[in-house]
Amino acid sequence: MAIRNALVTGCDYGLGLEFVKVLCKNENFRKIFAGCVDPKSATELVKLSQENSNIVPIQLRVDDDESIESAKNLIESQIGSEGLDLLINNAGINQNDGWVPGKGWVNLNRAHMLKHLNINTLGPVMLTHALLPDLRNGAKLNSKSVVLNISSDRASISLARTYQEDFNCPSLSYGLSKAALNHLTSTLSYYETKNNVISIAVHPGWIVTPMGGPKATFSASESAEKILKLVSNLTVPDSGRYMNRDGQDLDL
Ligand SMILES: NC(=O)c1ccc[n+]([C@@H]2O[C@H](COP(=O)([O-])OP(=O)(O)OC[C@H]3O[C@@H](n4cnc5c(N)ncnc54)[C@H](OP(=O)(O)O)[C@@H]3O)[C@@H](O)[C@H]2O)c1
Repeated sequence: MAIRNALVTGCDYGLGLEFVKVLCKNENFRKIFAGCVDPKSATELVKLSQENSNIVPIQLRVDDDESIESAKNLIESQIGSEGLDLLINNAGINQNDGWVPGKGWVNLNRAHMLKHLNINTLGPVMLTHALLPDLRNGAKLNSKSVVLNISSDRASISLARTYQEDFNCPSLSYGLSKAALNHLTSTLSYYETKNNVISIAVHPGWIVTPMGGPKATFSASESAEKILKLVSNLTVPDSGRYMNRDGQDLDL
């Protein structure tokens, strides 16, 4: 699949920034919109965009509907009817639920959980909804377009008990929000496959980023490369799948 126009969220650093670096090596690309909470402070991204004017840093808070609307307007003013080939819902948070080993959830609170749902789940729901006309246009001109939801192995309901035993750390807010993101992937595939808009959920592996920490197993750049290779080989029947960065199915 020739990726011409793409939007990636959460590009200040981490996996999002690596996606931008890989995408701009693609000879077919025209515009990569790189969403950031505060583009001015994303120094590495700004430098990349100065070297390549087709990388466009944009202000995009996925938990803010006005920010989504402004980003949509800016993107559409630049791509017109060409459409969008790829939306990467990458932005996410994973903050401690107030769990203390041996004591349990000493500080579990509703606001903390809602924050995770707002950024990790409702952000992708609202952004994807806003950009569906552009994704459909992309699919018309380019045979297919892709919504890539960056999920996690923690989204798996069938493995939830295993993770408690392995890590003794529930990540409940995070797991709930990513499981719900998988639900979006599946629902979207039901309604949008007829328009050749493919949606998939991918666990990138445990990667070295501010979220993954320095002891993680894989580099973010390697994960970005692998995941984008996976995306370019997708076919419409892949829509709705939840998989790892090597394309192997994970248990929902
Ligand atoms: N690292 C891992 O081992 C791992 C494993 C499994 C899945 N993942 C998933 O991979 C994705 C990328 O993770 P990462 O490791 O690169 O995380 P990261 O280093 O913490 O980066 C997260 C990005 O999301 C942005 N972000 C946070 N809240 C936002 C909001 N409200 N609106 C827009 N952007 C927002 C952050 O920007 P600001 O800091 O400026 O807010 C940052 O650019 C996430 O969805 C994560 O859940 C990561």
